[in-house]
Amino acid sequence: TKKAVLGPLVGAVDQGTSSTRFLVFNSKTAELLSHHQVEIKQEFPREGWVEQDPREILQSVYECIEKTCEKLGQLNIDISNIKAIGVSNQRETTVVWDKLTGEPLYNAVAAPVSPGPSVPVAVVPPGSSVPAAGSSSVWLDLRTQSTVENLSKRIPGNNNFVKSKTGLPLSTYFSAVKLRWLLDNVRKVQKAVEENRALFGTIDSWLIWSLTGGVSGGVHCTDVTNASRTMLFNIHSLEWDKELCEFFGIPMEILPNVRSSSEIYGLMKISHSLKAGALEGVPISGCLGDQSAALVGQMCFQDGQAKNTYGTGCFLLCNTGRKCVFSEHGLLTTVAYKLGRDKPVYYALEGSVAIAGAVIRWLRDNLGIIKTSEEIEKLAKEVGTSYGCYFVPAFSGLYAPYWEPSARGIICGLTQFTNKCHIAFAALEAVCFQTREILDAMNRDCGIPLSHLQVDGGMTSNKILMQLQADILYIPVVKPSMPETTALGAAMAAGAAEGVGVWSLEPEDLSAVTMERFEPQINAEESEIRYSTWKKAVMKSVGWVT
Ligand code: G3P
Repeated sequence: TKKAVLGPLVGAVDQGTSSTRFLVFNSKTAELLSHHQVEIKQEFPREGWVEQDPREILQSVYECIEKTCEKLGQLNIDISNIKAIGVSNQRETTVVWDKLTGEPLYNAVAAPVSPGPSVPVAVVPPGSSVPAAGSSSVWLDLRTQSTVENLSKRIPGNNNFVKSKTGLPLSTYFSAVKLRWLLDNVRKVQKAVEENRALFGTIDSWLIWSLTGGVSGGVHCTDVTNASRTMLFNIHSLEWDKELCEFFGIPMEILPNVRSSSEIYGLMKISHSLKAGALEGVPISGCLGDQSAALVGQMCFQDGQAKNTYGTGCFLLCNTGRKCVFSEHGLLTTVAYKLGRDKPVYYALEGSVAIAGAVIRWLRDNLGIIKTSEEIEKLAKEVGTSYGCYFVPAFSGLYAPYWEPSARGIICGLTQFTNKCHIAFAALEAVCFQTREILDAMNRDCGIPLSHLQVDGGMTSNKILMQLQADILYIPVVKPSMPETTALGAAMAAGAAEGVGVWSLEPEDLSAVTMERFEPQINAEESEIRYSTWKKAVMKSVGWVT
């Protein structure tokens, strides 16, 4: 049967920490017509290290595009209707590649080099100081902890210029210190910089450069939202900052050009993949870090509107309009979006939680108590309570509001009665408690408490999680029928770009998206007791690493 296609189509790459997706939307209704998803490997070569292979990431993008085009064909949808492509991506993850060969530059056989005299680096035991071949340093990676400690000694207490210029606390989370580590420890990276062959980028830059031709003319760029997560970008002037680059010892010539989140960066040029090649010549015209993309996809365009996305981590962003608001409660100040070259920049306050969906993956891959991520809901439902068990998944320390690198994961409150179902329930509760912590911080910073929470992301299909979240926040939780809001935001930005013009960013263009609401079902007192016990558990997770 033929399926009618009413409007121009827009594709979106959503490259997350756990998986890659390509999705195609109808620009007149935001209906999701087809998509494909591929899970991404994460390597943990040493305690605290997290790596991914940029080539695998790129390959997964090709595969997702190819499979989605195939599925569209089966639906009798002509892929020549795809008028633009947007990119959203896991942020901060750091790649350095060779612009002449197109290869990522980390090499398993490269020997470690001595740190330069001016910038102290992490002390790494011999034999384990180089990342695996072709790996990128993922945002969760902790190897730069001592680099961060040393650098922080050089920031005057009364003039935290890093924070005031970037909106970010000095942390292993952001790209500058990861890049510093690579420059100090991977000889190939150092050599390529000396020979003017090195390019640095977050995942968006790596993908856009590759998809627009790579070694044959790929465009080396990023957008303001991704740039704002590097710790090298001045969020007021919207430019790479010379003083920050000097402070971190980063050569400015390897940095990508910073563009707005919605403009034509280049045209798709994929020669080696037949089906993906069918998108040859389609403009790539949207680019946003995934959390900003979700903010756009949820249409949070007004001052005070917020969303929480449940992915590998959990990220609550509140639009603060054209003002840069600085938090007093552990939130980040970040660029929300800039939807066009001549359009104004919008800022957001962000509460970042490192581990959300990742805890489910850990239960699956490390403990083996579930075979698929979806099974967590069945286990939790069997008991409907954690029976006093609390799980603080501080695998990479604690992010907002604590910023406590010394924390590590704990499961506490165990008895002989505790079983895997209670632990599964406690894992889901942990995601909700962490969200409560960042929501509380947001309410304190903004003054006006949120009346409800807009949510999205893969985990929101878990109904127990959504109900728990409403109970623990004690406000309604509202989720769109189509949880792929991140991809939708990137598609909207791409479709709205000058020269493309197929998406108006008006609410009527989202007519296919309906909302589901979860109301709190426990009493406020019970909600508070559970939350205060959680806080006790959090305190026990702090100080494991000195
Ligand atoms: O800052 C990291 C964030 O962008 C990762 O997103 O979806 O992989 O949890 P996600």
